[in-house]
Amino acid sequence: MSKISKRIKVIASKSKGYHTLVDIGVDHGYTILEALTIYGVKKAYAIDISEGALAQAKRTLASFENVTYILNNGLVGLNIDFDLAVISGMGSLLMIDIIKGGYELLKNKDLILEPQGNIDELRIFLMNHNFKIVDEQMICDKGKYYEILKVTPGKMQLDELDIMFGPFLRREKSETFINYYKKLLIKFKEAYSFSQNENLLKKIKGIEKVIGE
Ligand SMILES: C[S@@+](CC[C@H](N)C(=O)[O-])C[C@H]1O[C@@H](n2cnc3c(N)ncnc32)[C@H](O)[C@@H]1O
Repeated sequence: MSKISKRIKVIASKSKGYHTLVDIGVDHGYTILEALTIYGVKKAYAIDISEGALAQAKRTLASFENVTYILNNGLVGLNIDFDLAVISGMGSLLMIDIIKGGYELLKNKDLILEPQGNIDELRIFLMNHNFKIVDEQMICDKGKYYEILKVTPGKMQLDELDIMFGPFLRREKSETFINYYKKLLIKFKEAYSFSQNENLLKKIKGIEKVIGE
């Protein structure tokens, strides 16, 4: 079985058509591996704050000469040229910190983001920092659900439901999206039967509205 997860494969597939990719928080280096071998990306920067993680990426990508390895806190203090940044597999709040720290380099670039948790906060941050979500995909990989966002520079206006569920996801209502929220609805209703929490009720009503239950 391939060592590369479906999640990484889908993220990497979004690099098609780009020349230079920077993967911030590269860890194992599999996204870059797929981008270079399958999707025609010509050059990559592998960035990680952890020496061990960067060493892993170096092992994965040992046969490539077009990868530069940088031990760094995101893009802070760097001056590199790229047309796509990938930030994946980390919490939204860390992701926001990384984008803020590299804002001068990132503000006019396309981004592929795969945040884990607090995605509503990430959407608000993007809206307030002149980024526009142009595509969203929800996938299920080994029973876990992930959202993958493609973002470009530009303006967007998100309403409350867009922020909670994703402007594209909530309108496209894919089978994966519906399955995820049906399961969540059961959990939330059960939790609500024990504690009548206002925030929980708001989420339940939002899910019911979006999935039409
Ligand atoms: C859980 S791994 C995710 C790896 C990969 N991007 C993925 O999607 O599977 C998160 C990686 O981000 C790195 N990381 C965390 N904070 C970082 C920062 N401020 N700058 C660069 N890398 C960071 C960690 O060292 C770790 O290797």
